[in-house]
Amino acid sequence: MKLSSAQRIRGLIRLPGDKSISHRAAMIAALAAGPTEISNFSTARDCASTVACLRELGISIDEGDGELRGKLHFAGGENLVPPGRPLDCGNSGSTMRILAGVLAGHDLTAELVGDESLSSRPMRRIIEPLELMGAKIEATDGKPPLTIHGRERLNTISYQLPVASAQVKSAILFAGLNAKGRTTVIETSQSRDHTERLFNAFGVPVTTHSDPSTGELSVKLEGPARFNGGSITIPGDISSAAFFIAAAMLLPGSELVIEDVGLNPTRTKFLSVLKSWGADISESDVRLERNEPVGTIKVSGATGLTPQQADRVLGGSAIPALIDELPLLAVVGTQIEGGIEIRDAAELRHKESDRLKATAQNLRAMGAEVHELPDGLRIPRSSKLHAAEIDSYGDHRIAMAFSVAALIAGGETEIRGSESAAVSFPEFYDLLNSLTKS
Ligand code: S3P
Repeated sequence: MKLSSAQRIRGLIRLPGDKSISHRAAMIAALAAGPTEISNFSTARDCASTVACLRELGISIDEGDGELRGKLHFAGGENLVPPGRPLDCGNSGSTMRILAGVLAGHDLTAELVGDESLSSRPMRRIIEPLELMGAKIEATDGKPPLTIHGRERLNTISYQLPVASAQVKSAILFAGLNAKGRTTVIETSQSRDHTERLFNAFGVPVTTHSDPSTGELSVKLEGPARFNGGSITIPGDISSAAFFIAAAMLLPGSELVIEDVGLNPTRTKFLSVLKSWGADISESDVRLERNEPVGTIKVSGATGLTPQQADRVLGGSAIPALIDELPLLAVVGTQIEGGIEIRDAAELRHKESDRLKATAQNLRAMGAEVHELPDGLRIPRSSKLHAAEIDSYGDHRIAMAFSVAALIAGGETEIRGSESAAVSFPEFYDLLNSLTKS
């Protein structure tokens, strides 16, 4: 894909449903005793992997077409059956890790496989707690494929997450639905809380307490839980919105409105970071829909991006709430007078690609000064980016972050592997094209 620089972006948009919430909604609907209708289900290839795996496990899922695009109907009350072949999770870490939690609590054996990228991602983080709960999981050197031998009734655990990860927390909570008694997950930094909100919306009480002296959060669930289905509309994906928000902020004269987008505070930290760097962003019409905050975001093109000293360094407990936006924030960081720094983000090396390496290499190719650190990136000063050949490393978020960089670079940038954007956002390039032309 070749992309030229743009003058500005303008428009009013709504986005397909949030990827993280869609995975969880499909899994809880599959386990519910009654019917569930999901509207605005994510169009991400990752979420199609989740739906395909659930179908392989015997769950009937009807999809609407035409007008009903994005609508899924689950009959409910079905039992999971042993799959006839390996469950293909594609590129999706959320599918593999959270589904492992679902399978742990069912008396069957299933193999979970993934593509080359997913096959190299760490799985000990879910194997350890799920085995403590009584499942048996085979892996090679802690990597996929995973063979899960589940059990109908699991043990409860109280488990402190060694790495902040909403996927691991969610795997344990989904397993906790089939454990007898209280399952507790303790996290030192809050990760996204969609599972907790969704369980509560479906009538499965999950409580979260924070310890004021340590700042630790304890998430508690009482099992076994039986619950009915319901109807749910998935909010627009805030992580997909992030690319257009950054583009609008960086191109003076831009005016962008995004309606019905998810505004969950465990996901919107990047908005406060961009505001602290001088962006003109406002939120309005904020309301709760099935426990998830939803609203409208308005962004205008900014000039003169200069942060306060304290806002130059992103690190510590802010990182889990920024995790998917960090490559994009690094791109924006090259335009911030005095530069920025990202620390405590070694987890980025275990995403769909090594995102620290991919971001540093591609920013350097575009003319920025970047120092790659073991746990982050230092961008010491702002620089004018120029067109370059970018390698997405097959990683959707790298492809889209550097498409935003291409808009502010002089000349024509080639994004190799741009088709990986479909992993989370198949409509990205068409929408970008229409926003830059209006
Ligand atoms: C996700 C959690 C995050 C995030 C991923 C989606 C989720 O991963 O990077 O894109 O849906 O729970 P970790 O939980 O591993 O940090």
